[in-house]
Amino acid sequence: MPSLAFFAATAASLLSVAAAQSTTAAPAAAAPAESFPATPLASKHFAYPSGIPYQADPDDGVRGRQSGYNLCNSTTEGQTSLCQTSFLNHLDDFCLWAPATPDSLIADTEGEEVAWCTKPGRGTRLIPPGALTGVQFMRTPDYVQVVGFIDQTKINIKDGDSGGELDPHGADLRGNPLGSLVYSNAFPSNNGNNDTFQQVIEWHNFMGGNQFCFKVCDPAGANAANFCQHIYDRIGCAYNAPNAAQNGTFEACEGENQDFPGVYTSNGAVVTYTQPAESLGAITTMPYTARLPASSNCVPFQSADLYAAVASVFPTTSSTSSGASATGTNSSGAKSSGASGSKTASGAGASNTANAGSSMMLGRTKGQQGALGAVLGVMAGVSGVVFSIAFLA
Ligand SMILES: *[C@@H]1O[C@H](CO)[C@@H](O)[C@H](O)[C@H]1NC(C)=O
Ligand SMILES: *[C@@H]1O[C@H](CO)[C@@H](O)[C@H](O)[C@H]1NC(C)=O
Ligand SMILES: *[C@@H]1O[C@H](CO)[C@@H](O)[C@H](O)[C@H]1NC(C)=O
Ligand SMILES: *[C@@H]1O[C@H](CO)[C@@H](O)[C@H](O)[C@H]1NC(C)=O
Repeated sequence: MPSLAFFAATAASLLSVAAAQSTTAAPAAAAPAESFPATPLASKHFAYPSGIPYQADPDDGVRGRQSGYNLCNSTTEGQTSLCQTSFLNHLDDFCLWAPATPDSLIADTEGEEVAWCTKPGRGTRLIPPGALTGVQFMRTPDYVQVVGFIDQTKINIKDGDSGGELDPHGADLRGNPLGSLVYSNAFPSNNGNNDTFQQVIEWHNFMGGNQFCFKVCDPAGANAANFCQHIYDRIGCAYNAPNAAQNGTFEACEGENQDFPGVYTSNGAVVTYTQPAESLGAITTMPYTARLPASSNCVPFQSADLYAAVASVFPTTSSTSSGASATGTNSSGAKSSGASGSKTASGAGASNTANAGSSMMLGRTKGQQGALGAVLGVMAGVSGVVFSIAFLA
């Protein structure tokens, strides 16, 4: 059996570990060289759009070949697209990683997710009208992120799946999904020019439990790899992207940086959390609650306005049904600052065991009983472990 410590040092993806394990009886130290690409995905750089290759990952390792492609255009756009080039620009302009075929578990398909976007024009699938029911965009000095609520069945994620993490690493360094590329126009180096996109080297996207968080770290920042840390794949959005996003509210905010995922302060001492190995079973307790960064200048929007471009591409869907509107919800107001305690923190999926389904979501929530019930249901059904209600609340 490969040593878990070996994989922990190189990657977050548990499914990737499983894939590697299943192909060899040799110890990790003797893993075949061809299991790893000559260049890790996170070290490959391509200019957009001029330098985009057909596939960023031309290799054929233990997980096979890249399932889709990165060269995406008008001929690839639509709901059968296998485009694996994604964007996170703004509240109205981002993509999420989700499966290519309906009723899929993230854990089963993490190597093959495709880009589902809020705007046409980039050769991808489009998130159907009404799927998004609340989104918060957050700009901080070192990253931008979107956190939100989604009917995940509309983007092919099986109902009830609490999901997992996508990131450009993985046990075999080929990324999840394999060959996935992410671009943004949101950083200062773009000088406000929305038509230039730079590659984001470090990012993470948790999908599941009808929630998501997707963070892209400024490649010019000194701590991109820390803010977009990829090793805490079992503890979800509440720890990797602590936030105050609310279902039914669409808003764009500015905020301070969060603490690095997994790093917290206890009694004045800075402590780094160690995520237990999957083999030790479900995570039933956490030694800390992630600090909620202060935010400000939250500007509310109506969902139908934000995603109107997509609505026009789905003519048979009533545009009036496009999700919850922000009406009447004065979430963070214009001057929200930090942890009011009145908001909902998203906890999109913690990553699963390789056998799927047994993940747990760690969310600090209030007023999110449906999701909470679903989480507890999953946990009770699979692991038999009853997680502390006090902790979740
Ligand atoms: C459009 O994308 C497809 C799929 O990647 C590719 O085969 C084709 O060459 C592209 N067309 C152009 C004009 O770039
Ligand atoms: C760039 O996009 C943002 C977000 O959609 C928008 O607020 C801004 O006005 C745009 N900038 C320009 C120069 O068009
Ligand atoms: C978000 O709100 C919508 C509309 O009320 C609801 O259907 C959905 O279940 C909620 N999602 C979550 C994750 O609570
Ligand atoms: C929202 O909150 C702000 C700041 O507290 C307040 O000035 C404004 O009147 C509120 N708007 C609504 C619609 O409640």
